[in-house]
Amino acid sequence: MSRDSTSKDTRILRADAAAIMQAADVLRAGGLAAFPTETVYGLGARADDPRAVAALYAAKGRPSFNPLIAHARDIDAAQQLGAFSETALSLAKRFWPGPLTLVVRARGNDAVCELARAGLDTLAVRVPSHATAQALLGSVDFPVVAPSANRSGHVSPTTAQHVADDLSGKVEIILDGGPSKGGIESTIVDCSGTTSRLLRSGGIARSEIEKITGPLGSAGKEEVSAPGMTASHYAPKARLRLDASGIRENEAFLGFGFPLPANVGRARKVLNLSPNADLTEAASNLYAYLRELDASGAATIAVAPIPGEGLGEAIRDRLARAAAPK
Ligand code: TXA
Ligand code: MG
Repeated sequence: MSRDSTSKDTRILRADAAAIMQAADVLRAGGLAAFPTETVYGLGARADDPRAVAALYAAKGRPSFNPLIAHARDIDAAQQLGAFSETALSLAKRFWPGPLTLVVRARGNDAVCELARAGLDTLAVRVPSHATAQALLGSVDFPVVAPSANRSGHVSPTTAQHVADDLSGKVEIILDGGPSKGGIESTIVDCSGTTSRLLRSGGIARSEIEKITGPLGSAGKEEVSAPGMTASHYAPKARLRLDASGIRENEAFLGFGFPLPANVGRARKVLNLSPNADLTEAASNLYAYLRELDASGAATIAVAPIPGEGLGEAIRDRLARAAAPK
């Protein structure tokens, strides 16, 4: 096999203590290691090393004006990176460790380099709950930036194999901790200004956040406040057709609950996000099923209507982005 000088031998290791130590060594040396979190798999690099961060942007094919989330082991470590408002602290205490990212004023020290922040004076930070992510963060003395471990613009990975499919040869170690339970990225709340705003719906429902913050504002349309939230993000190769009630020619079908459309037999392939119409289960299956239906070769994936409450807001958001013209 021909290799260029930047190609790496990617090792997929079961996430036991020895493998986590090896991943920590890779990060310490400025390399890239992918690891499971409770939302999706992340591609990790040490946040304080501009060269490691540059290599991370290159591996993903991600534009370097799109800032990264710093992952910290606990609230104290997170507070060393950014100045938390009272609201931010309340949210952190309620939801960390867990699938919430807070945007706060960056302290401007070099623990998260400017490149990782894409030059902004704010910083996105989160404390993940997954045991492997916790163990990894606990064994290094720097924060770890970790975008979802997919090629830029592609569907986020929820298994180690998904990571390998996208980034083999570009990452040194992939820690395999089994399928991600949450399945959809963290909720992002901007607490850097006077009012809290929802920048990305995600693993924690808006209604849960609003119990603490009151009604959340949203990101202004003209302003690029979560630059990664461009319309055509999270895209499979196939087109998506949302709120479908029947199957058209050359379509695969992504269901939610029952009944299935009367002509479902026409579909090239059928997967049901949650036979019991459970939104948590649907979120955890979303990306894996999109990948699987995409692999069926169907030109279009028809998607059943999915309710917009609770986790449904994030599921519908990701589907709408995947459906947007590329
Ligand atoms: O669940 C998750 O959050 C996963 C896991 C691996 O932790 N990570 C993840 O990272 O989804 P990524 O890079 O795929 O998405 C981060 C989003 C991007 O849309 C980025 O633009 C936004 O966070 N972001 C980062 N820093 C920001 C900042 N200072 N202000 C506003 N948005 C920011
Ligand atoms: Mg991503």
